[in-house]
Amino acid sequence: MPELIGIGVGPGDPELLTVKAVNAIHNADVILCPASKEDRPSIALSVVSSLIDKSKNQEIIKLIFPMTKDQKVLEETWKKNAKIMAEVVLSGKNAVYLTVGDPYLYSTWIYMHKEIEKNFPSVKINVIPGIVSMFTFASKVGVSIAEGAEKVSIIPSCYDLTTVKEIAKNSETLVFLKDGRYFDQVVNLLKEAGFPDNSIFAIGQDLGTKDEIIRKLTLGEVNDGTLTTKYFSILVVKRV
Ligand SMILES: C[S@@+](CC[C@H](N)C(=O)[O-])C[C@H]1O[C@@H](n2cnc3c(N)ncnc32)[C@H](O)[C@@H]1O
Repeated sequence: MPELIGIGVGPGDPELLTVKAVNAIHNADVILCPASKEDRPSIALSVVSSLIDKSKNQEIIKLIFPMTKDQKVLEETWKKNAKIMAEVVLSGKNAVYLTVGDPYLYSTWIYMHKEIEKNFPSVKINVIPGIVSMFTFASKVGVSIAEGAEKVSIIPSCYDLTTVKEIAKNSETLVFLKDGRYFDQVVNLLKEAGFPDNSIFAIGQDLGTKDEIIRKLTLGEVNDGTLTTKYFSILVVKRV
C-alpha cells in the first residue's frame, strides 16, 4: 500500500540523516519538499541532494509555504499543499516529505499531517525522526541542554517575547529558535530579568553548511547589534 513518510533530514549535514531516512528517500516515487518562495530552493531538499540517485528519475515536487503570520494565508496554504500531497499517494505512489531537523519541532510537516489525517484519512502516514538543530549545536559547542534537575525552555524568537523574563526566572537553559533577527531583543530582556552575566551564551548559525558560524561567549560579553541577523540561527543561554 502506498504511503506518505514525513522525514526529518537533520540540521544540514547529509551525514546526519538516519539510515531509515536514506532508505525511505531511495524507495520513494515522489519527493515532496517545502520552500518559502517559487524562486527559492528548498533547504530540506538541498540537504539530501547528494543522496538522491539521479538515475532513478524520482519526481520532485516543491511546495510553497510563504513566510507569513497571516493565519488565513497559512490555513489556505496548508489545505492546498496537503491536498497535493494526499493526491500523490492516492494515485498509487510512495512519497516522502522532507523537513529540516525533526518533523515535530516547528515544522510545516505538523500542519500537513493534521490536514491529511482530517481530510484524507485513507492516506497511510509514517514519520521518521531527524536530528534536531539544537542538539547538533550542543554537540558542536559542548554545552549540555539539560543536566540533573535543570529545566529547559524552547522559545520561538519571532513571536511575542513578553513572557521571556518570566520564563528566564524559572529555567536553567533557554533555547531560542526561529529567526536570529530578534536575538538583540532577547539579550536585553535576559539582562533586565537579571539572568546572570556569567551565563553561557552560544550562537550557531547555518549549522552543517559551508557558512556555519559558531560563537560561545557569556551573556555579559554580548554587546548590542553584534548578533546574527540570519533566520537559521540558534541561541542557547545557560546558567552555570
Ligand atoms: C522552522 S524551525 C525548524 C526546526 C527544525 N524542525 C528542527 O528540528 O530543528 C527553523 C529554525 O530552526 C533552527 N535551525 C534549524 N536548522 C538550523 C541550522 N542548520 N542552523 C541553525 N539553526 C537552525 C533555526 O532557529 C531556524 O530558525
